[in-house]
Amino acid sequence: MTQIDTTTDSTDDKVLARAAQALKQGDLVVFPTETVYGLGADASQDVAVARIFAAKNRPNFNPLIVHVASLEIAECFGVFCDPARALAQAFWPGPLSLVVPRTDDCPASLLVSAGLDTIALRVPESHIAQALLTRSQLGIAAPSANPSGALSPTDATHIAPSIREAAAVVVDGGPCRVGLESTIVGFEGDRPVLLRPGGIAVEEIEKIVGPLVAAAHNSKAPTSPGQLLSHYAPSAKVRLNATDVRADEALLRFGKSALPEGRAMAEKNLSPTGDLVEAASHLFQYLRDLDASGARTIAVEPLPATGLGLAINDRLARAAAPRNESPS
Ligand code: TXA
Ligand code: MG
Repeated sequence: MTQIDTTTDSTDDKVLARAAQALKQGDLVVFPTETVYGLGADASQDVAVARIFAAKNRPNFNPLIVHVASLEIAECFGVFCDPARALAQAFWPGPLSLVVPRTDDCPASLLVSAGLDTIALRVPESHIAQALLTRSQLGIAAPSANPSGALSPTDATHIAPSIREAAAVVVDGGPCRVGLESTIVGFEGDRPVLLRPGGIAVEEIEKIVGPLVAAAHNSKAPTSPGQLLSHYAPSAKVRLNATDVRADEALLRFGKSALPEGRAMAEKNLSPTGDLVEAASHLFQYLRDLDASGARTIAVEPLPATGLGLAINDRLARAAAPRNESPS
C-alpha cells in the first residue's frame, strides 16, 4: 500500500485530502488527536472497520470510539440523555468519550459496537483531526494506533511498523497535547458511570453532572473487554464447530461449506471465499439476522484460529457460553 508520510506540514491540505480520500475508499489512516494517535476507518464501512482489528492484531473485538466533527453529527449516531448532552456541551471538542445507545438508524457498522447496543462517541479538539473530519464528512472509528497490547502512540515516531504498513496514509501532527487517552463516561439510564479515567479529570466531570458511579462497582464497566462483551449474546443458543445441521437450526457458514443447502431455517455465509476480514465485517450483522429467523439454535461451522479468526472465534465462544444474568 502506498504511504504518504508527512513529517513536514501535516496540516497541509493535500495530505488531508489524501487521507480523507483513503478513508472514503475503505482504507486505514493514522491521524493525531489531542490525546493519542488513532488508527482510523470510515465507521460506516464494515470491511474497513474489520481491517482495524486485523491491523492491530487483536485476539478479540473491543468496541471502538467513533470520532465526529460535532455534537449535532454525534446525535445521528447516538441517543443523548440530558447529562450526556450537558457533558458534550461542556467538554467537546476535547478528550471525553461518551457511551450512549445507538440510534435506530445509526450509520456505524455493528462491528464498531462489537455487538453492543451502545456506541462510544467523541468530538476531538485537535485541529488536524477536526480538519480530517470536516473534509471527509465521515464518522471515523479509531482505536489508539498501537498493535494490541502495546502502548498508545503520542507521537508519530511511536507508530509501529506493522501499523504504518496497514495504513494508506500517516498524518504526522507531532506530539499529542494531552498524551493520555480520553476519559470514557457511559450511562445507566441517565446516571453517569466512569468507564475509563483519562484526559479530563473526574472532578471536572462531576462539576457538571454530579457524582459518577465508579467503574469498579458497575457491571458494564470494561475493566476487561471480556467482562464487557459477556453482556451481549443472541437469544438463540450457539452451537460451535458444526459439521452437520438440523432443520430447526439456523446455519452460519464459513468458506467452501460442505453442508447441504436449504436444510436450515435460515443461513448466511460469513465469507464464501474464506476471507477472515470479510467474515469479521459480517459477524455481528449475521448473528443478528440468524437470531431474528426464530431458530432456537445457530449452528456455526468451524473457522480457522489465525489472524482475525482468533477474534471471531473468541466472540463466537462468548455467544455459545452458558448464560448467566450477572456475569462476574
Ligand atoms: O483518546 C482516545 O480515546 C483514543 C483516541 C484515538 O480517540 N482512542 C482510544 O481507543 O483510546 P481505544 O480503542 O484504545 O479504547 C477505547 C475504549 C475501549 O477500552 C473500549 O472498551 C471502550 O473504549 N468502548 C468503546 N465503545 C464502547 C461501548 N459501546 N461500551 C463500553 N466501552 C466502550
Ligand atoms: Mg488503546
